[in-house]
Amino acid sequence: MSFKALMLATAMFGATSGALFATGARAGDLTIGFSQIGSESGWRAAETTVSKAEAKKRDITFKIADAQQKQENQIKAIRSFIAQGVDAIFLAPVVSTGWDTVLKEAQEAKIPVVLLDRDIDPAGKSLYLTAVTSDSVHEGKVAGEWLVKTVGGKPCSVVELQGTVGASVAANRKKGFEDGIAGASNVKIVRSQTGDFTRAKGKEVMESFIKAEGGGKNICAVYAHNDDMMVGAIQAMKEAGLKPGTQVLTVSIDAVPDIFKAMAAGEANATVELTPNMAGPAFDAIVAFKDKGTMPPKWIQTESKLYTQADNPKAIYDQKKDLGY
Ligand code: AHR
Repeated sequence: MSFKALMLATAMFGATSGALFATGARAGDLTIGFSQIGSESGWRAAETTVSKAEAKKRDITFKIADAQQKQENQIKAIRSFIAQGVDAIFLAPVVSTGWDTVLKEAQEAKIPVVLLDRDIDPAGKSLYLTAVTSDSVHEGKVAGEWLVKTVGGKPCSVVELQGTVGASVAANRKKGFEDGIAGASNVKIVRSQTGDFTRAKGKEVMESFIKAEGGGKNICAVYAHNDDMMVGAIQAMKEAGLKPGTQVLTVSIDAVPDIFKAMAAGEANATVELTPNMAGPAFDAIVAFKDKGTMPPKWIQTESKLYTQADNPKAIYDQKKDLGY
């Protein structure tokens, strides 16, 4: 471990020696606890499946606690992992605030924490080792820019289905989309509400948007912070006699198999991919940290790629459908 890395580790965990981290432990010796949010979306289910498979590949003992969307359950799970003396804790934080106390407890117990797929407030930066996430502002921006390009100069009223209130990804995807359309005065968000990242709520909120917008004839596009809400919104549009994908444009985030199915059927237009494999890079970072004391970068960024109907959605659906979504 370099001197700088040692100083960083010392500041982070209040440790006095790098030897505390460089245990020479191999992947097979490690037990890691994962406080997972729940199973609100196809993407989340895939992340759980992929995480288990990545742990198995490395022979890591992996314990998953499902918080059923509640931060209090995540805090309890982290305390239980600390009591069990795990070697590291992975946390997918349902919301971005309220973690200081429990993450300080993990730090005092010298257990490194890795954030997966969502961030916590910047003030908590010293309380975790690294975060494996996408750039969720960029995801929203890509979605917004795609829409601006697709509508050309035509006026376009957009309805937005937001993710879970208080989640970093919901705030960031909103901001990114707003940035993406900022230069186009013809594209305007006319309604925006949370659909909590679920299909059922996405459908329910879309139904209320359609009612409020004269049966939907004023809606030019739907932007959803995840594909599951979009799948629900597509259903609502079809039931209201609208034609998603042609009459109403759609753009969302995740790239789950069902959105490719909808794209192949001409009922959805675009999605921005979020890899469900956040755990693989997190395991590698922890193994190197535990074995040799190697400090990972503070942010391990995953890729975000735009897919449209031009990308052979049927073939992508066939590739993805058995991957645990
Ligand atoms: O944090 C990632 C987001 O959480 C996914 O985009 C969404 O589907 C999930 O619920």
